[in-house]
Amino acid sequence: MCGIVGCIGSQPALPMLYAGLKDLMYRGYDSAGIATFNNDTIVRARVQGEPLKLEHKLKDLPQDATVGIAHNRWATHGKPAERNAHPHTSSGNMVAVVHNGIIENHDALRDELIAQGYRFQSETDTEVIPNLIEREIVAGARDLTQAVERIVPRLKGGFAIAVISSLFQDEVVLVRSGMPLIIGAGIGGVYFASDETPLVDYVKEVVQLVDGEIATLCRDGTFLIARKRLPKYSDRRRPLRVKKGSTGKDGHKYYMFKEIMEQPESVRNAIRGRLVDGTVVLPELDLIEEKIRNASSVTLVACGTSKYAGAVARLAFEKLARMKTMLEEASEYHTREALVQDGELVIGISQSGETADTCLALEYAKNRNATCIAVVNRQGFKLGDIADAEIGALAGPEIAVASTKAFTAQVVVLILLAMRVATIRGTLSDYNRLRLVESLENLPEAVEEVLKYANVMRNVAKSYLSAPRTLFIGRGYCVPIADEGTLKLQEIGYVDAAAYSAGALKHGPLALVEDVIPVIAIALSGTASDKTLNNVQEVVARSGHIVGIVTKGSAEEELMRKLAKVLISLPNTAEELSPILAAPLVQLYAYYSGVLRKHNVDRPRNLAKSVTVE
Ligand code: M6R
Repeated sequence: MCGIVGCIGSQPALPMLYAGLKDLMYRGYDSAGIATFNNDTIVRARVQGEPLKLEHKLKDLPQDATVGIAHNRWATHGKPAERNAHPHTSSGNMVAVVHNGIIENHDALRDELIAQGYRFQSETDTEVIPNLIEREIVAGARDLTQAVERIVPRLKGGFAIAVISSLFQDEVVLVRSGMPLIIGAGIGGVYFASDETPLVDYVKEVVQLVDGEIATLCRDGTFLIARKRLPKYSDRRRPLRVKKGSTGKDGHKYYMFKEIMEQPESVRNAIRGRLVDGTVVLPELDLIEEKIRNASSVTLVACGTSKYAGAVARLAFEKLARMKTMLEEASEYHTREALVQDGELVIGISQSGETADTCLALEYAKNRNATCIAVVNRQGFKLGDIADAEIGALAGPEIAVASTKAFTAQVVVLILLAMRVATIRGTLSDYNRLRLVESLENLPEAVEEVLKYANVMRNVAKSYLSAPRTLFIGRGYCVPIADEGTLKLQEIGYVDAAAYSAGALKHGPLALVEDVIPVIAIALSGTASDKTLNNVQEVVARSGHIVGIVTKGSAEEELMRKLAKVLISLPNTAEELSPILAAPLVQLYAYYSGVLRKHNVDRPRNLAKSVTVE
C-alpha cells in the first residue's frame, strides 16, 4: 500500500519522479505528490486521485531540481484528499517525508508534538514523522541521518520512509521497517523506489534494504547503509529482475486484458526448466528435503486470489502427497493463534510477496518451528525473506490490481510443488506423474484455446449487465474457480456475486435462482462433473440461465448443450490443472462486466494491489 519513489544527483528529478509515480500506481491512487527544493525551501505539488492528475502541477515546480521524493497513497488514516496527500512537511517546512505503512502510536506522538507547539495540517499518521525529525534538527542533529536515527526508535508499526530537509540538501534518508525499499546507483545519481519498476531506465543493479536499516543517499551518486559505504554491500547488489519495456500495455487499453492474454506465456514460464525427464525439478527445496520428508501436515496461508490458488493446492497436496492439508485465511491464522505442529509444512502464497496478512501468518508459523515455503510472483520481497525456500511463479510484472496471470502461474507452481513433495515422500504414483507431466506440457497451448472465447465472454457479460447478481457453481477443483470468479466480478464489475459448491445449492442458495440470474456452471472432467450436471438441471428447472463450461468431447458436453444458454467447451487436461483452463473465462467475464460498465478495470475503486497493512 502506497508507493514511494525518489532520487538525488545531478539529473533533473521531475521526469523520473512523475514516471515512477505512474509505474507505482498499482500501490494506491487515492492521491499523489512530489516534494523537491526551490533554493532554500521545500516545495510540493499534490493532488487527490491518480498521479496523471499531477501533470499540470509539475510546471509549478523547479524544472532543474535534482532531488525529490514522491508518493502514491492508498488511504488508511484520513480520507482521500489533497491535504492528506504525501509528501507531508513539518510545521517549519524544514522536512518533507513520504511514508508507506502505518505509525501505530501516532496519536500519542501527535499530542506530544502539539503540546510543544507543532501544528498539523492533515489527518494522517505520517505527519508526526517530519515534525519529530524537525525537532531533532532544531535540537542540534549534525545531519539529516542523525535526526532520523534519533526518531526511528519512537515509531511503532511497519513502515518505509524517505526524508529530505531544506537544511541538508545533499542527502536523502531512507528507513525500512517492514515495507520494501530498493536503491540503485546509476548515471547521474542514486534512485530508489518501493519496487524496481521505476528504476529500470536509471540503474542496472539494486540493493534491497532489510528491516531496521537506514540509508543515506548522497548527491555524489553514492549511498551508505547504516553509515557504511558500498562496497561493503557489494555482495547484496543484484541485477534488476524487471526487464525494460516489460511493463507497457502493448497497445491494449487496460493492463488487465494484456495480462489475461499473456497467460499462455506466463504458464509456459512457470513450467520452463522445472520438468526434466518426466520429473519435477525444484532446486529451491534441496536444503529442506529432509524436513519435507518428515513433515506431519501442510497448511497454506494466503489472501484473496492467492488464497484460491491455495484452495487448488489443498486438493492436490491431499491427493498426490497424501498429507492432511489445511487452507487458512492469512489474516485469521495468526490472530486466532492457530496451532502449529512441530515441523509442519506451511506455504505462504502471494503475488506481491509483501501482503502484510500473509507475511505475518508465515512469520507466526516460522516462529513455531514450521518449515516455511513462499510461492510468490515478485521474488526478493518480505514473504521470501521469512521462508526457508522461495519459489517464483515467474508470471512477469502484473500491474492491474486484479490478479490474473499471477494466479494461473501460482497454480502451476503449486501443482509442481505438490508433485515434488509427493516424490520426496514416495507417494507420487507413476500413473499420476505421467498423467500430470503430459498435461503440463500441453497446458500453454490449451490456455491459448481457452482465450479464443474472449468474445463469447464479452457477449455473456453484455447479456447480463442488468442482472442483480451472478452465481458460480462447480465441484472439486472447479470450486476455487467459482470463488475466484466471484471475487473478480465484485472487484472489477462491482457486481454482487456468490460461489457455491454445486452440491450446496439445494441446501439454500437455490432460492436465489430466478429468470434473470446467470449461473456460471463449471463442470470440467474429473471434477464430479456428472453430479454438477444434476445441479444444473435443478437450476434450469427454476428458470435460471446456465453458462456451461465443460470439457470438449465429454458426456457432460452433450447434456450441457441441451441445458445451457451458452456452452463453452475446453480442451481436456488433468483435473488438477482444470482450474488453469477455467480461470481465464471468469477473468474475462469480470473484465468485460467492468469495461461495459465503464469502470477503470486496472484501478478498481477503494483497492490497491499490494496490501501492506493489516
Ligand atoms: O499480493 P497477494 O497475492 O498477496 O495479494 C493478495 C490479495 O490482496 C489479492 O489477490 C487480491 O485479492 C487481488 N486484487 C484479487 O484480484
